[in-house]
Amino acid sequence: MSGRLQGYSAIVTGGGKGIGRAVVDRFVAEGARVGVLVRSEADAGSLTGQHGDAVLPVLGDVRSWADNSRLVEATTSAFGKLDVLVPNAGVYDFSDRFETISGEDLQTRFEELFAVNVQGYLLAVRAALDPLRASQGSVVFTLSSSSFYPGGGGVLYVSSKHALVGTVKQLAFELAPDIRVNAVAPGGTRTGLGGLSSAGHSRSLADIPGFDAMVAKTVPLGFLSEPEDHAGLYVTLASREEARFVTAEIIRSDGGLMVRGGGRKRKEA
Ligand SMILES: NC(=O)c1ccc[n+]([C@@H]2O[C@H](COP(=O)([O-])OP(=O)(O)OC[C@H]3O[C@@H](n4cnc5c(N)ncnc54)[C@H](O)[C@@H]3O)[C@@H](O)[C@H]2O)c1
Repeated sequence: MSGRLQGYSAIVTGGGKGIGRAVVDRFVAEGARVGVLVRSEADAGSLTGQHGDAVLPVLGDVRSWADNSRLVEATTSAFGKLDVLVPNAGVYDFSDRFETISGEDLQTRFEELFAVNVQGYLLAVRAALDPLRASQGSVVFTLSSSSFYPGGGGVLYVSSKHALVGTVKQLAFELAPDIRVNAVAPGGTRTGLGGLSSAGHSRSLADIPGFDAMVAKTVPLGFLSEPEDHAGLYVTLASREEARFVTAEIIRSDGGLMVRGGGRKRKEA
């Protein structure tokens, strides 16, 4: 790798697995050191096993202000500053249909999903504000194709990811000119994205029968992406050299959903 983030200090939430882990791996390969919020000792051990002192895993929950503060303090103490924050941890609703969810369940599921997917992002940015301002750094959120289109989740997941579009815009507006705020919006990606404990979801995205083929059939580029397919875009947005004049931007990494039209037909192989 070319060292496009040489000397940078970064934070990634939900960086033990999936897209967040691919971002951590790529950031380290590009010369950054990374504080990572993880949920398990196993994820922490896997990170330090691969990256040694270049990573600092911190166990915690993105719904907690105290855990977000501790993550930022530990990272700035270890690496001396903070250049990039990647709020990424998320949960899915497994496309549960609105009318099948009782009113009581809707309330508890909303509280859990929005606490992770939206409040978790806001708490991370709030905790990182001072060091990011000091370094004239940037935020790169993980959004989703569900930030733009229905049908890739249920109403809770899709509305949470739409809410993050407004979050990117408002924070980019308020934090300019000190801190750039951008996002990557992946489409279907091969990960173990999990569901809501309040809904009793015990499976992950990887367990959905035919998920691979369904995504391949839906997107113009014709395949299910891997977490690594998105990671370089986070590097580009994080880099001061490459994106100094870029804020409030959301880069779609979704195989071309915007030009799907009424259901694009591909030539048979
Ligand atoms: N997989 C996809 O198809 C896809 C598509 C678009 C966007 N996304 C988004 O990408 C992001 C990463 O998801 P992924 O697909 O890599 O799945 P993943 O399950 O591999 O990663 C999610 C991470 O978030 C962590 N996490 C969940 N709840 C947490 C909490 N309360 N506190 C701390 N950490 C918590 C998990 O431990 C995990 O490490 C999510 O925001 C997701 O919505 C995923």
